[in-house]
Amino acid sequence: MEHAFGMAAYGLGIFVAFVVAAALIFLFVRDVTQKQHTILRNYPIVGHLRYYFEELGEYFRQYFFMGDRDEMPFNRATRSWIYRLAKNEGGVIGFGSTYDLHIPGALIFVNAGFPVLEEERAPTPSLVIGAGYAAQPFTAHSVFNLSGMSFGAISEPAVRALSRGAKEAGCWMDTGEGGLSPFHLEGGCDIIMQIGTAKYGVRDEHGNLSPKRLREIAAHEQVRAFELKLSQGAKPGKGGVLPGAKVTPIIAQVRGIPVGQDSISPNRHRDIATIDELIDSIARIRDITGKPVGIKTAIGGWRFINELCDTINRRGLAVAPDFLVIDGGEGGTGAAPQALADHVGLSIDEALPRVADSLMQAGLKGRIRLVGSGKIVTSARAAWALCAGADFINSARGFMFSLGCIQALRCHQNTCPTGITTHNPRLQRGLVVEEKAVRVANYCKNMNKEIDMIAHSCGLTNAREFTREHVRLVQADGSSRALNMIYPYPEALKRAA
Ligand SMILES: Cc1cc2nc3c(=O)[nH]c(=O)nc-3n(C[C@H](O)[C@H](O)[C@H](O)COP(=O)(O)O)c2cc1C
Ligand code: SF4
Repeated sequence: MEHAFGMAAYGLGIFVAFVVAAALIFLFVRDVTQKQHTILRNYPIVGHLRYYFEELGEYFRQYFFMGDRDEMPFNRATRSWIYRLAKNEGGVIGFGSTYDLHIPGALIFVNAGFPVLEEERAPTPSLVIGAGYAAQPFTAHSVFNLSGMSFGAISEPAVRALSRGAKEAGCWMDTGEGGLSPFHLEGGCDIIMQIGTAKYGVRDEHGNLSPKRLREIAAHEQVRAFELKLSQGAKPGKGGVLPGAKVTPIIAQVRGIPVGQDSISPNRHRDIATIDELIDSIARIRDITGKPVGIKTAIGGWRFINELCDTINRRGLAVAPDFLVIDGGEGGTGAAPQALADHVGLSIDEALPRVADSLMQAGLKGRIRLVGSGKIVTSARAAWALCAGADFINSARGFMFSLGCIQALRCHQNTCPTGITTHNPRLQRGLVVEEKAVRVANYCKNMNKEIDMIAHSCGLTNAREFTREHVRLVQADGSSRALNMIYPYPEALKRAA
């Protein structure tokens, strides 16, 4: 019996060895004869390890080899900061900062000799958007808000967790260009409905803007405003691309398109080719819906904003957009061509103060609320944006980190390991809506709290008192300059002339 068992095991061993040898020979022959991969032709079989490690490297590099401040788009120090805020762990570090105060661009806030006492601080006031111009103006309570990420680019549980978290934190949620789904409404938060170039969710059967659909969407009390998206910083001049694999039946229904086919939006609104047409569209959507209407765009220079301001002053305040979202070239995306993501559109660092200047110069800063976005994911960057002239901050990827994103950089592949940008139910299983909604809310609330904390340290009672004098930027020679010296206020410019 024992002998028979031994013989069987021996036979099995020989068989397995034979199969392995045959597989290796097959692989060897295939590698040396194929023509696409140099490494495999030169190093058959072992060459595969390179691809394997390259793939694993995406996940492990950040843990084993990269320093705290090394990675892009977000380094570990920044990610950890967000994770701590999301877990309500206080954003506190020990021993000392690893932030280098000597590298160009480092932010230094101007602390007051006598900071505002805890008991003297005032809550940061809410701001009304569209007051006096939209039938139903929107009172926005949170300085920090949730930027557009379309349902499609992100998953159902991600949208649900964000919606619930936004409600708890009191911030708005922008739908992104993929239309309004029941999951956006689920949490009960304030919603800004974005109208992208394909007009998903508000289009008729020919893809044109449908007044009937606009009225239906506006009938949701939660939808507080509409936003015409001209472009986003990661891909100005390119429409959204949602691969067919991500166009599930519910996504197709929300967008008003066929299931399983690539969903490609035009690279410009077909009906908007001039500033006057833009202004006409804004006024029309506001008339139909009764809600404030804004624009989202990245900018490449000053011509667009200056022409916009001139046209508004020529045609009157009533036709102005109620808010303007300026997205920096460093902004994120579900999927974008690298050429556009890397090289097109100004950084928010330059765009935001210059757009604020144009609005101030044209006397429109009070009429048009200014929102900034583009890697503004920490309280320090948000406070800088307020100093530069923003009224509100939007973030997408900050909130993705609060949902558990590990920066695996696969958002376009439907294989997101954290369930955020995939429609694979197995991967979505890891994203527990109830758990992550709490983290989303914590992140937003703690961001607002920390922004206020920086204001108090600067001697201000609340964050709306920030001006450019309150932040300094380290220059190439290691010295620092106040933001109002780098971007002087228009009045100062006039005085100097
Ligand atoms: C996954 C993903 C999807 C996005 N989808 C949209 C979109 O539908 N519409 C839009 O205007 N911007 C979209 N964006 C851009 C963000 O709204 C935001 O403007 C940009 O990422 C800058 O913010 P951040 O640096 O905090 O991420 C998307 C970004 C990401 C990461
Ligand atoms: S973890 Fe998911 S959401 Fe985050 S970068 Fe990777 S693929 Fe994108």
